[in-house]
Amino acid sequence: MAEPSSVDPWGTVKIKDYDQLVKVFGIQPFHTVMRLMVEKGLPLSLHMRRGIIFGHRDFDKVIVSALERGEKAAVLTGFMPSGRFHLGHKLTVDQLLYYQRSLGVKVFVALADAEAYSVRRLPREKVIKLAVEEYVASMIALGLDPEKTTFYFQTNRGTPYYRLIQMFSGKVTASEFQDIYGDLTPAKVVAALTQAADILHVELEEYGGYKNVVVPVGADQDPHIRLARDLADRFSRDLGLKKPAATYHKLIRGLDGGKMSSSRPDFTIFLSDPPDLARRKLMAALTGGRATAEEQRRLGGVPEACTVYDLYLFGLIPNDRELRRVYEDCRGGRLLCGACKRMAWNLLEEFLKNFQERLEQAKEIAWKVVEAPSF
Ligand code: TRP
Ligand code: SF4
Repeated sequence: MAEPSSVDPWGTVKIKDYDQLVKVFGIQPFHTVMRLMVEKGLPLSLHMRRGIIFGHRDFDKVIVSALERGEKAAVLTGFMPSGRFHLGHKLTVDQLLYYQRSLGVKVFVALADAEAYSVRRLPREKVIKLAVEEYVASMIALGLDPEKTTFYFQTNRGTPYYRLIQMFSGKVTASEFQDIYGDLTPAKVVAALTQAADILHVELEEYGGYKNVVVPVGADQDPHIRLARDLADRFSRDLGLKKPAATYHKLIRGLDGGKMSSSRPDFTIFLSDPPDLARRKLMAALTGGRATAEEQRRLGGVPEACTVYDLYLFGLIPNDRELRRVYEDCRGGRLLCGACKRMAWNLLEEFLKNFQERLEQAKEIAWKVVEAPSF
């Protein structure tokens, strides 16, 4: 892997590919928005500061200006309850926490059970249980305030939401769907329209009339964002819809450098992993270390290539100055991977322990704050 020319503790995860995304898809780079936010006295989140949130659409026009004018704003995202809750999901929840606590923005979370059932073909009972006990419970255990957060199942969201899906179906083309999913199946078409309704329904009076909406997603979800924004335009007159904003984040890598995903459990840290298991996964993680200790002292490690450094960067080390110190000690050959992994494990163990202590009670709360579908 090519090494970067300047010392940049934030610049991990193949930044070139993300620059490419910004160029090709017309996503705006996030750093200009950050400058604006600082000017306006708005706090930045850890993931903004560290360049993990790398792009946006209309975040300045929709969210920054809403906050400036004291208008109400909402953040909405969705999860497909198809596997266990892991560190990749936590990245999105950390952003929701920032909106809720630091900006006072209303939070909506869609549980994409319709998508899980129709596209992934998972059994209903399994999806419902996972959605409540893994997703909603984990989000509450991570600190989302259940009183201030609306969690809902897609299949339960009510008549006006479903009315949107029907209306949207008359104003989209087959090629728009192809952009989103490649091939077309009825399930995928319905899922795409349902997701557009997720993103846009909170603008309706029936759901609070939030006209300034931001959707934080990974770049893979951008076609959905484009569809929702186009539909907002097409229904601006009839329904008073306004284009939502979006932010795009980098994805945390799995511990082998590949994808972090429920389907790759050996390389994924689940928040409910027993400590022993999490420890074994971490100790086997791919680092940016050299072949021998001698070489590493001489040449230094490559944090950009290191999945342990990814954990730090994405929040395991919350303090920016400490993160920078680890970065520089690694590059300077003063920190070796064995000691570094032990430090990572101490931090991760503490986090998992605190989280898991809260999880059982959070499960009970979860069943009360979200209405589970009857079938
Ligand atoms: N399709 C998304 C996924 O696979 C889940 C989702 C459903 C979503 N509705 C949403 C994401 C609305 C963002 C906004 O993860
Ligand atoms: Fe990664 Fe730490 Fe090794 Fe550097 S010292 S390569 S950050 S494990």
